[in-house]
Amino acid sequence: MFSEDCERLLLYCKEPKEFGASRNDLPLSEEVKARYKNPDDDERGAWQSVSLNAQGGHGTKDQFYDFVAPNGKVHKLPEGRCWLYTWPVMQEKIADGRVWFGATGNNAPRQKKFLFEAKAGLTPNTLWLANDVGTNDEAKKDTVRLFGSAVFDTPKPERLLGRVIHIATNPGDLVLDSFLGSGTTAAVAQKMNRRYIGIEMGEHAVTHCTPRLQKVVDGEQGGVSKSQNWRGGGGFRFFRLGPPVFDEDGAIQPDIRFPVLAAHIWFSETETPWTKPKSLTPFLGDHDGQGYALLFNGILGDKSIGGGNVLTRKTLAAIRAGASGYTGPLTVYGERTVLSDASLAEEVVTFKQTPYDVRARK
Ligand SMILES: C[S@@+](CC[C@H](N)C(=O)[O-])C[C@H]1O[C@@H](n2cnc3c(N)ncnc32)[C@H](O)[C@@H]1O
Repeated sequence: MFSEDCERLLLYCKEPKEFGASRNDLPLSEEVKARYKNPDDDERGAWQSVSLNAQGGHGTKDQFYDFVAPNGKVHKLPEGRCWLYTWPVMQEKIADGRVWFGATGNNAPRQKKFLFEAKAGLTPNTLWLANDVGTNDEAKKDTVRLFGSAVFDTPKPERLLGRVIHIATNPGDLVLDSFLGSGTTAAVAQKMNRRYIGIEMGEHAVTHCTPRLQKVVDGEQGGVSKSQNWRGGGGFRFFRLGPPVFDEDGAIQPDIRFPVLAAHIWFSETETPWTKPKSLTPFLGDHDGQGYALLFNGILGDKSIGGGNVLTRKTLAAIRAGASGYTGPLTVYGERTVLSDASLAEEVVTFKQTPYDVRARK
């Protein structure tokens, strides 16, 4: 019965006080800055006039007096009000050219508030107007421009994410959007020189988010580009998540396949992604002078107990045979080793036992 005209943002933080102290103010809008003018050519720059009196209840008895202007004119206090300052302080303000009696010099006195003394920013309030942060409609138009059609029901305008990212982060910070959708958060984070991680389970991660981010890197000029003076640059990496390696108790999934565990072990050892070779061998590759191998799931065609998943002279020879010429030190993951510590040292092999030495996190 009513048309839905607003979005709600929920703000969570671990430490509200810390967030309050570290978050950024909003820049003064052009509209606010335009209120500052300089009709008397004050060398301190633009100013606006603000009231020189306050509610009477807040004043001390020294703040109630008849104000005699330098031209002799007497200004009475409005009913129920007091002057902001005592008469001696007021005289200092007059001497400092901070009291304004209008262009003719006959108006009731007001105080000059200079732009250079104004707070550099505004405390964000809870009402964000479409004029400042855009609308879903604006975002839909952006998606049509970017993708050729409006593919998402409730895309967010870049200006909205721009304000969120501005308030909560600084350049170089890491922004996470675990429901990336059309990729707005990542696009804006890139344009604002933040690092980011976007997670998306839909195919549009490939069909929409990736091309959009490529356009941003190439200097796309929609959304917040102009206000951020965005000229393109930087880059991003796209990853597909494999099946989970661990169950919720931290144990390796029983039906995990060799390439999935291999990719996990490679990443946890080298912190680089593993490129699956055309034909699988226990040797996963070498990195910074260290080779890595995995004996798992009968990769050598032998699933018998004490067979292909156990480090023996035979399986070590098979690993070496598949190592494409690599002869350096090796880390081998397997169920068990029959080689003694002395033999391992002689072969320059570090043995790690599955599943115990396969770590969920570094
Ligand atoms: C409403 S959209 C997000 C809109 C986005 N903020 C934007 O401006 O375009 C939510 C997205 O989250 C994705 N999603 C939902 N559950 C997810 C999950 N568990 N993991 C990854 N993505 C998920 C959906 O596929 C959908 O694209």
